[in-house]
Amino acid sequence: MILIIDFGSQYNQLIARRVREHHVYCQIEPPDIPLATIKAMNPEGIILSGGPASIYEKGSPRVDKGILNLGIPVLGICYGLQFMVDALGGKVIGSKKREYGFAELNVKKQSGIFQGVGKKTQCWMSHGDSIGELPHGFTIMASTANTPVAAAENLKKNFYGLQFHPEVVHTKSGKKMLANFLFDICRCKKSWSMKSFVTHAVAEIRAQVGDGKVILGLSGGVDSSVAAVLLHRAIGRNLICVFVDNGVLRLNEADKVIEMFKKNLKINLRFARAGKLFLSRLKGVTDPERKRKIIGRTFIEVFDKEAHKIKNVKFLAQGTLYPDLIESRSAFGGPSAVIKSHHNVGGLPKKMNLQLVEPLKHLFKDEVRLLGKELGLADDVVWRQPFPGPGLAIRIIGEVTAKRLDVLRKADAILLEEIRANNLYYKLWQSFAVLLPIKSVGIMGDQRTYENILAIRAMTSDDAMTADWAQLPHDILARISTRIINEVRGVNRVVYDISSKPPSTIEWE
Ligand code: XMP
Repeated sequence: MILIIDFGSQYNQLIARRVREHHVYCQIEPPDIPLATIKAMNPEGIILSGGPASIYEKGSPRVDKGILNLGIPVLGICYGLQFMVDALGGKVIGSKKREYGFAELNVKKQSGIFQGVGKKTQCWMSHGDSIGELPHGFTIMASTANTPVAAAENLKKNFYGLQFHPEVVHTKSGKKMLANFLFDICRCKKSWSMKSFVTHAVAEIRAQVGDGKVILGLSGGVDSSVAAVLLHRAIGRNLICVFVDNGVLRLNEADKVIEMFKKNLKINLRFARAGKLFLSRLKGVTDPERKRKIIGRTFIEVFDKEAHKIKNVKFLAQGTLYPDLIESRSAFGGPSAVIKSHHNVGGLPKKMNLQLVEPLKHLFKDEVRLLGKELGLADDVVWRQPFPGPGLAIRIIGEVTAKRLDVLRKADAILLEEIRANNLYYKLWQSFAVLLPIKSVGIMGDQRTYENILAIRAMTSDDAMTADWAQLPHDILARISTRIINEVRGVNRVVYDISSKPPSTIEWE
């Protein structure tokens, strides 16, 4: 494995992604990780990441210098290089020119990290400080117009440093450079695959829980579904999944979950039908944030009650992913403004007194999908479009009532049916319907109608941070509109939402 020390760069997760793309396992750890822990991990190589701090600044992050005496190859990137240079007696200087963006890299020696890399190649810079004086034993390997020491190495010690970022795609040969570090320098093997992960994870889960019982809140989404199947493989009937029907699910969703997990996969599944309770609490509520809080709180209450019905439960499993883990402990990222109190709201109460089992906590989302496939889960689950925890409640603008839910469910089902039939489901990040609290006049047969307006939302995106409205073909939009107006009582007008994120958000509430 490769250990990545997190000095706070926005590109850290990207370094990990790149290492894993080469089928080498890696883990990101904070700089205060004890030397003894690093020794016990026995990594083949260490990568010191970039970071926003200046090395001579008070409180700048530092890792135990002892890592430089372990005989393990080290690659310092940007701040990581500066840390290494400072720790080994060199000098870092505040540059007059800040270098940000593309730069041409002149490679002096095509060996080590630069084996097989062209003499001139494009790299991506993002730094203020640079290396003034290299420590004893280092030689310059590459430079740019502004940065004389753009790369350096100490061959004897197996230390390498890059002032630029090999992990971003703008560094043309970045992938090759990382491969050189991993395979030629660290002698890593390409052993990280989902197959090996399953073997490893199953053993780890068994070691942690023994013959204890584990409960898991199953939502039907990718993460909890994959976690369920993995845990089921490890401990069989000792995994008890709890599915809470909160009354704001899509059409037939609850039945589909029972069918897939209980009937097909033979997973121990308990069902809490709590729709009525949720709806009674949502009565008269129109504020989106209040809807979220009510649903979040009620979910915890129902889940807790269900959990107490099961005897001798010691563990609670969650489908936490790696980005959640890294972000939740990041010492450097400040809290961003709360636009919607959404993500990871499912935080279950500490008072439940259960030990956490988080078998996906070292995986990225796309790895979870690969894992799902490896475990034999259907594409329909593995590639499912995201669905928000508060469900249809935040897609009914205004008050959530049983009647309005019924209208939205039917319309949404037609929309999804058409999206699937036209092979668009997997191409879209999300596609759904939104029921507006506005009525408009229409004509049906010879009758005047005065009914609801329904909006269609279809988005493309990679990560939901930014998203574009999808340019759906007009004939498909026409068919969706005709079918909804004809087949759903209570809707006489369909509109298409043509706003992107930002400045709009994906969900309407
Ligand atoms: P927005 O609307 O902020 O949504 O552009 C970004 C992504 O997050 C999902 N979303 C939620 N997920 N609870 C969730 O679990 C929520 O309250 C929530 N609100 C939005 C949204 O569907 C999109 O994928």
